[in-house]
Amino acid sequence: MDGNGRWAKAHHRPRAFGHKSGMDNVKTITKVASRLGVKVLTLYAFSTENWRRPTEEVNYLMQLPIDFFNTFLPELMAENVQVKVMGFLDQLPEKTRQVTYDAMAQTANNTGMILNFALNYGSRAEITSAVQQLGQAVAAGQIQPEEINEQMIGQQLMTASLGQFADPDLLIRTSGELRLSNFLLWQLAYSELYFADVHWPDFSQQDLEQAFAAYQKRQRRYGGLA
Ligand code: IPE
Ligand code: MG
Repeated sequence: MDGNGRWAKAHHRPRAFGHKSGMDNVKTITKVASRLGVKVLTLYAFSTENWRRPTEEVNYLMQLPIDFFNTFLPELMAENVQVKVMGFLDQLPEKTRQVTYDAMAQTANNTGMILNFALNYGSRAEITSAVQQLGQAVAAGQIQPEEINEQMIGQQLMTASLGQFADPDLLIRTSGELRLSNFLLWQLAYSELYFADVHWPDFSQQDLEQAFAAYQKRQRRYGGLA
């Protein structure tokens, strides 16, 4: 979800206003995606590198999950959406961490779309942590190094609980930037990439449907032949 700051600038408003509008659009797109039959919607909300921003902006971004769940939980329940949050949650402020755990607990028995927030998430840190886990298992004599396979690595990543949906079919980045920015580097190996020119607060149902239409025209070969 990129472009909140540039969207605010274009409207002659502070960056926080862009983030607030971005949060409102998360509500819109969550409902749209759920109704279109998406199984897992993962949203990159805050990266392990976003701490480099000014304290005031970081504080605002840490308040947003609190506002989001406090206002949107009834609709998430009505939509049967299950909330998951992946990232280094122990580094979040107490109130932010608590509200995310509460949202996960309250929606745990919902059986519809999974709304998965990447919050204080970074793919290199995720992979580093997975390597440490496997290294410890080797050191403890539980596994041999040559037994380590792709499935075992996947099991140590933060997407493991998504099961068959751990690897996204489609990645959408808004605002015209053509980068992955440390997002799901392992999991995106064979995902289809789609870049939308609109800033996240303006990304609409029509834009999402356009992305799906583009996806449907792609031919996925996974290195094989058609
Ligand atoms: C995305 O919008 C939201 C977060 C990273 C939290 P940006 O804040 O990156 O907006 P730009 O890139 O400055 O326009
Ligand atoms: Mg940005």
